[in-house]
Amino acid sequence: MTYHARCSDGRGQSVELVLKQDICDEDLEGMKEVYQSAGWLKHSTDVIGQVFDASNVKVIVQSGDRIIGFGRAMSDGVFNAAIYDIVVHEEWQNRGIARRILGHLLDRLKGVSCVHLISTTGNEEFYMKCGFRKVKTGMARYVRAEQRDEYLE
Ligand SMILES: CC(C)(COP(=O)(O)OP(=O)(O)OC[C@H]1O[C@@H](n2cnc3c(N)ncnc32)[C@H](O)[C@@H]1OP(=O)(O)O)[C@@H](O)C(=O)NCCC(=O)NCCS
Repeated sequence: MTYHARCSDGRGQSVELVLKQDICDEDLEGMKEVYQSAGWLKHSTDVIGQVFDASNVKVIVQSGDRIIGFGRAMSDGVFNAAIYDIVVHEEWQNRGIARRILGHLLDRLKGVSCVHLISTTGNEEFYMKCGFRKVKTGMARYVRAEQRDEYLE
């Protein structure tokens, strides 16, 4: 399914965005560029394909042929869903695109009792602005020491 939306081009004009719910192999290279622009350098096209294939709710945003952002979620459809990898190309940030991606995912997750996520450091305020709150009993386990140091109490 494909949807249309608009956002600012950064110079006061409005540009059309296309939101796609399905991702194909041809999208993977463009998605990798978006990850790289955000400093996520370990995401190869194989890894991107794997994690998006495993996600049952996803959206990719394009301006013309260019991929400029995306997000994904894994949901059991009833009790729990987890949102991951909301990423907007750095040239397209601060134009409401991530809010639109999150809104699209939440719309498709409506009815699910709990939607949770772990914000990357420094982006907590974005999720707070979109209605998320800290979890009193949230816990996580990380394999890599640097992520343990960054994210765990
Ligand atoms: C975080 C990220 C997705 C935000 O994308 P964006 O398209 O620039 O966000 P939006 O323009 O939709 O922002 C919506 C609102 O959140 C605010 N916001 C966005 N990022 C913010 C941040 N890091 N800190 C505080 N506020 C932030 C915006 O100012 C805006 O506020 P407003 O509605 O009052 O004007 C983007 O910076 C990004 O891709 N970062 C790198 C990848 C990443 O870490 N993603 C999070 C994964 S958990």
